[in-house]
Amino acid sequence: MTLSRYYLLLPIFLLSFYFFPQYRRPAVVSVPLPHRANATFYMLARNSDLEGALATIVQVEKRINRNLGYPYVLLNDVPFENQFMDAIRASTTSKVEFGLIPPEQWNQPEWIDEIKAAAERQKMAAAGVKYGDSISYRNMCRFNAGSRSPQFFFQHPLMLKYRWYWRLEPNVKYHCNVDFDPFLFMQENNKTYSFTIATYEDPSTIPSLWSTVRGMFGNHSALRL
Ligand SMILES: *[C@@H]1O[C@H](CO)[C@@H](O)[C@H](O)[C@H]1NC(C)=O
Ligand SMILES: *[C@@H]1O[C@H](CO)[C@@H](O)[C@H](O)[C@H]1NC(C)=O
Ligand SMILES: *[C@@H]1O[C@H](CO)[C@@H](O)[C@H](O)[C@H]1NC(C)=O
Repeated sequence: MTLSRYYLLLPIFLLSFYFFPQYRRPAVVSVPLPHRANATFYMLARNSDLEGALATIVQVEKRINRNLGYPYVLLNDVPFENQFMDAIRASTTSKVEFGLIPPEQWNQPEWIDEIKAAAERQKMAAAGVKYGDSISYRNMCRFNAGSRSPQFFFQHPLMLKYRWYWRLEPNVKYHCNVDFDPFLFMQENNKTYSFTIATYEDPSTIPSLWSTVRGMFGNHSALRL
């Protein structure tokens, strides 16, 4: 048989799928739902963070979530713009939910002495401390730290649906693949908290951190590694 006869046979072979559709693979292959933990990725972002938020989600999808399909929850203290939501939704096949943080849970609470706080901010700014005089940075930290009663960030209605979360930030890069399901690992091994960071803290932004953490470890021996 010459080569040209193969060329003739190929279209006939392909056409046969047209006439005998039962031999075609179904368009949607139904695979069993993956065994997943009750978990979500969570990010606090502003509309102006679109590029950075996208960069993070693209990384998370590529390195971790592509085969896992965990959802995302994004929160903002002002409503997300349509352009922001469309771009984020287009970057993943996973479910994405966008939520609003009510002002009373975001803004500085009444019990903070604003005169004292403003003076401290000025002092920090004068000393060249990063975010030294930024109020929104403090609101973000307070919300993420959950120091605000009655609502902590994990009590936001969109977050209450989950038991585990992975907090993301805009502009994060993940340099290697995570080829296991970290949420499932935590769920199945009764882990409550896991933490990784690869950056240096600037002690001048929070000089009391070290002594407070040491004090907490001192008071709670179960927390010591
Ligand atoms: C996930 O956890 C939340 C919070 O504990 C709970 O309300 C929800 O029912 C759980 N969902 C599933 C599918 O187990
Ligand atoms: C996790 O906790 C449950 C309930 O306390 C226990 O039955 C189970 O054996 C624990 N699993 C592991 C891996 O420690
Ligand atoms: C540790 O306990 C001491 C004594 O009760 C208390 O004064 C201090 O505030 C505690 N520190 C922390 C970080 O919990």
